[in-house]
Amino acid sequence: MQTLSEQAPALIRLSDYRAPAWRVETVALDFDLGIDASELCARLLLRRDPAQDAPLRLDGEDLQLLSISLDGLQLPATAYRYADNVLEVDGAHDGSVLETRVRLRPAANTALEGLYLSGSRESGFLLTQCEAEGFRHITFFPDRPDVQARYSVTLRADRERFPVLLAGGNPDGAGELEGGRHWARFVDPHPKPSYLFALVAGRLEKLERDYVTADGRPVQLKIWAEADVIDRCHYAMDALERSMRWDEQTYGRNYDLDVFHVVATNDFNMGAMENKGLNIFNAKYLLADPDSSTDEEYRHVEAVVAHEYFHNWSGNRVTCRDWFQLSLKEGLTVFREQSFSADMNSAPLKRIEDVALLRRAQFPEDAGPLAHPVRPAQYSEINNFYTATVYEKGSELVRMLAGRLGRDGFRRGMDRYFERNDGRAATLEDFLGALGEANDTDLMPYLAWYGQAGTPRLKARGHYDPARREYTLTLAQHAPGVAGKEPRPPLPIPVKLALFARDGTMLPLHLQGAASGNLHERVVVLTRTEQSLVFTDVASEPVPSLLRGFSAPVILECDYTPAELALLLGHDVDGFNRWEAGQQLATRAYEDLRDGDATHALHAWCDALARLFDSEAIDDALLADLLTPPGEIELAERETAIDPQHIHGLRQDLQRHLAERLGADALYRRYQALAGHTTIELDAPSQARRRLKRRVLELLHLLDAEGACLLAAAQYRDAPGMTDRLAALAVLVRGHADAAAGALLDYRQRYADNTLALDKWFSVQAQMPGEPALERVLALEKDAAFTPKNPNRVQSLLGAFVRGNPSGFHRVDGAGYRLLIERLITLDSLNPQVAARLATAFNGWQRLEPKRREAARLAIAELAGHVGLSRNLAEIIGNVLN
Ligand code: PHE
Ligand code: ZN
Repeated sequence: MQTLSEQAPALIRLSDYRAPAWRVETVALDFDLGIDASELCARLLLRRDPAQDAPLRLDGEDLQLLSISLDGLQLPATAYRYADNVLEVDGAHDGSVLETRVRLRPAANTALEGLYLSGSRESGFLLTQCEAEGFRHITFFPDRPDVQARYSVTLRADRERFPVLLAGGNPDGAGELEGGRHWARFVDPHPKPSYLFALVAGRLEKLERDYVTADGRPVQLKIWAEADVIDRCHYAMDALERSMRWDEQTYGRNYDLDVFHVVATNDFNMGAMENKGLNIFNAKYLLADPDSSTDEEYRHVEAVVAHEYFHNWSGNRVTCRDWFQLSLKEGLTVFREQSFSADMNSAPLKRIEDVALLRRAQFPEDAGPLAHPVRPAQYSEINNFYTATVYEKGSELVRMLAGRLGRDGFRRGMDRYFERNDGRAATLEDFLGALGEANDTDLMPYLAWYGQAGTPRLKARGHYDPARREYTLTLAQHAPGVAGKEPRPPLPIPVKLALFARDGTMLPLHLQGAASGNLHERVVVLTRTEQSLVFTDVASEPVPSLLRGFSAPVILECDYTPAELALLLGHDVDGFNRWEAGQQLATRAYEDLRDGDATHALHAWCDALARLFDSEAIDDALLADLLTPPGEIELAERETAIDPQHIHGLRQDLQRHLAERLGADALYRRYQALAGHTTIELDAPSQARRRLKRRVLELLHLLDAEGACLLAAAQYRDAPGMTDRLAALAVLVRGHADAAAGALLDYRQRYADNTLALDKWFSVQAQMPGEPALERVLALEKDAAFTPKNPNRVQSLLGAFVRGNPSGFHRVDGAGYRLLIERLITLDSLNPQVAARLATAFNGWQRLEPKRREAARLAIAELAGHVGLSRNLAEIIGNVLN
């Protein structure tokens, strides 16, 4: 039997990068589209690098080659070889034209990469997904991002079955053909890498809006979706227009084609895709209406629409030289998207949301066997590197640079970056170089952040000398160790800080050796392993507020007393740091409960929140966040023998203490007051009320399950929109309430034809805590609406269970692990990307308590011994086992 290591696929290394020996100047694609079979003729105008003499080699996977000609002559079988996903052709020279004809089988493509069918054979439509290496599933091509070509695409198909024909670029003619067929052509004037190619063909409806860019270009915006959901695209259209204006105003970037197409599909592996001129979206991130979307989902739609649009500059006009530079476009675009969302909504709430995500998704990734640098040095399957590290940590790195340069400096740097790299395939060095040069600063030390895995730790110690009225703050950084490696050189770490007096006011900062001013906040960039800052003229012992706004993606260790954290929680004016103080205090309170020997922090936390709960001054949404302790995944990060069920129980206890401190009366009163304003409006105060109402209901449930379930049942029944409805349903389901069954049945019927709403029905049940979850998941797999072929559905049931429900998945009998490996084997044969993503649920198994660890090890080892795993899944399993 072949073991995992024998099947281990070759590693691609950054250090092996070579410029392409052959480039493509223009490419003309001619498609003859059909559901079962599509044919395509590709004509490539080739350019050879005179400095290299490598033969012409083109990527091509699972292609059925029908014919091949070079410079107009049919090639004999001896003049080319197609093996191991490479087509090698003899006799090509600079300026040669290669023409290949291939046949594709879209309906049989379950991996959803290349050309595939979305929906049913009868009514579905055809579309493509090419990032990262999907184009080689469509035609023979040097499928790498540093080969940029001008595309002209002609689509031909039956008019009745495929009335809408779309490709990237500007429309360049359309017309009738014989036999009820028609054609359409699109020409893209901007050279682009193959991963940005896209086409869509089928029965789709559209929303249209005229837009004029700041530099005067009229653009037609068109959002396409299937007829039954087109009315749910209005919010996305507004978000698109806001994104376009924002990029003009904030970065001076204008759109650059005459049309901008956006298409929604239910069958998509990822969130959305920035294909040039033809963005394709997972419907989950495009459709929104009050009856089927929560407030959070509205925010996601706005953010993802913006993200894909922003890629037009950060990704498309300036693309990546190779996939190791992925964060050059993704980290930067996430940062742009986050800044946009902060401008459109509340900046501190956005920051809290983003940091919470970083801690929940990226920190665990960076602390376990799947850890990798933002710019990895090697990979075997690039699809496995669309990770929280490349995206979220990558964005944090850009944020540090932006903070370092300041608003104007960053804009100057970005102007330089876009100008100098327009039309190029760039590297992270190009990025840091442009930002630095435009500001006469050397930013290259920040490259170290891109090259090392692990979350650095920052230790802070304060010492107050009352006689000299001096406060000394010592900051020490510590990179997570890699066994057998040299200690790493220190990283530049920007620390934004302030000092608070014990009465909660901010102190002016007199930092020794720095220009004084009447500053109350400043950024100190730590460049050494350890550094001391001396503040003079400090009247009494201060409480430092550090890393304000989360100024660097590190883990801060500071020996605050509970009273000091409570002071920051009560008074910090930086909304993020106020929340952060509460999170730290809650973590201490959790440890109080866990270790059972003190309750200082617990009391301090509950008391501070009780004071805030009654204060009028605080925003409802921020209050809701303050009342929420760190999640189970985050709490587990601090432990070494993890028992997820125990953690769940303790976290519930922690919240019960808080609820008791707030008191049932106060909670009921608050709930009633909030319930008095029930609307579906999306303005900030309405959203904030819904968020707090949910939190209050959850806390009430811990005090008075029966009473809270009555409220929840009524809230479910009367909810005017999805936010309130789903919140109520979750309380019923998680509380194993009697009323849960009726509500679930009602929801199932009400949304029988609404795929996205049904996904939430699966998720909410897959996330019921504890042992019963697994039985429920098994039962739900038998629901007529469950299918392993739809990534959203798999994510909503299995993903929610294995990655979003630690106390349900990590059963001590190992049944959760065995279920996962069985499903992985089935899923892998259908869609390797979906399987690989699900398999990351095993990350961190080495830190489970012994029984679960052994059960997990057995399951993973069994999967690793399975023959014929995809490269995607094999790489994840291989890494996880290490
Ligand atoms: N590039 C897409 C984005 O972040 C993500 C994606 C990657 C989509 C690979 C599909 C395939 O915007
Ligand atoms: Zn992106």
